[in-house]
Formats: sequence, C-alpha cells, structure tokens
Amino acid sequence: GGKDAAKESKVLRAGTEPTFAPFEFQEKDSKDFTGFDMDLIRAIGKQMGRDVEIKNMGFDALIPAINSGNIDVVASGMSITEERKKAVTFSDPYYTSGLAIIVRNDENNIKSLKDLEGKTISVQIGTTGADKAASVPGAKVKTFNTNAEVFLELNNKNADAVIIDRPVGAYFLTKEGKGQDKIVGETMDAEPYGFAVKKDSKLAGEINKALGELKKNGEYDKIYKKWFGE
Ligand code: ARG
Repeated sequence: GGKDAAKESKVLRAGTEPTFAPFEFQEKDSKDFTGFDMDLIRAIGKQMGRDVEIKNMGFDALIPAINSGNIDVVASGMSITEERKKAVTFSDPYYTSGLAIIVRNDENNIKSLKDLEGKTISVQIGTTGADKAASVPGAKVKTFNTNAEVFLELNNKNADAVIIDRPVGAYFLTKEGKGQDKIVGETMDAEPYGFAVKKDSKLAGEINKALGELKKNGEYDKIYKKWFGE
C-alpha cells in the first residue's frame, strides 16, 4: 500500500562490488557486506534517517545502475575521475587512495610501471587500474570481474603483475597474498574516493552534510581507525 511505498522510498540503495577488502568484502561463509565503505555508508544513512540496503553488482555495472535508477548511490571505493564526472555526481572525497603494482615474491625485474612494458597485467574490469594498465606500451592486459580472479591470475603465474589500489593490495598481502606476493614501487597519483549519485541529484548534498557531521562527531575517525589503525 501507500504506506509501504513511502517507507520503501526511504531506503538508501547502495551498490557495491564486494571483492575489494578492506573497503567492501564478504567474510568467508557470510553474505553480509563488511568493510570501511560499508560502515561509512551505513553511518551516513543512519545520519540521514534512512535504512541502507547493499546491492552486490559488477564494478562496471555500478554507474549504469545509478543512471537506470536501480541504486541510489555507489559505495565501492570508486575514484573520482573527470571521465566518470561526465556520467554521475560525486560526494566530497572520503578517502585518498592511489594505485600500486603487486608482483610475486620471486619477481625481481619489475619495480615500476616502465618495467611492465610488454608484460601481462591482471586488473579488475572498469577500474582506474585497468586504465593504467592499458596505458603501458606493449602490455597484455587481462581483465576480470572480481579481484579474487585478478590475484589468482598472478599467483597461477598467468600474469606478471596486478595494478590495483594500494590499500587493497596491502590488505591482500596480509591475507591470501601472505608469503606469496609483494608491492613494488611508489604509489601512483592520488585517487580520492567519492560516493557517486545520479547526475545533479540533491542526494550528493545530503551525503556531504551527513559525512561532515560524522567527521565532526568522531564517528568517521572511529570507522577509519577500525579499518586502517591510527
Ligand atoms: N578505485 C578504483 C576505481 O575507482 C577501483 C575500485 C574498485 N572497487 C571495487 N569495489 N571493486 O576504478
């Protein structure tokens, strides 16, 4: 009925691609979504008085889902880029990231982007890492839907390197990548993450207001510390 519809419209539908720990992921044997972005978007929803529903989607399906109205917001470690700004509106930045190169421990010849020329690079489809890999002369770029597949390709020796957001690579090295892989080189350009909404939607302002409040009242810091330490 009408009442249900009104309640329904209050739910904030957030889309995410959940193979991006520690920002969004699912613990083994759990269907729940956890991570920095998940805590933050739930806290933002709470601040706005809206329940948050998380929808699991392919990374390259997120912006189309905003535009078709299937979701209200992207909470998926999405870097704010000029290209994406043509299609969606971003909130204020909520985290500063940047890309890094991951190789197997036994790899001693790859130390920078330059060393990837002519090599095979494994990346997630639709990401800034995929764009960076495509810019390397002569490189063979293999794209995958999930980062589980991206890293598996490296450890199966079917790729020489992975290009991915540094904090995600660093987290992987403390988990499945432990003893197998390493990060090489400097972090590339800074990439701020933002929550994406429909172009020119007033939701961006509402999210910014809530985010500002969470920064003021210590809740943002609490969530940050939980996932990244001091
Ligand atoms: N920051 C990168 C980008 O915006 C990668 C994001 C991938 N996120 C994810 N949840 N899989 O392209």
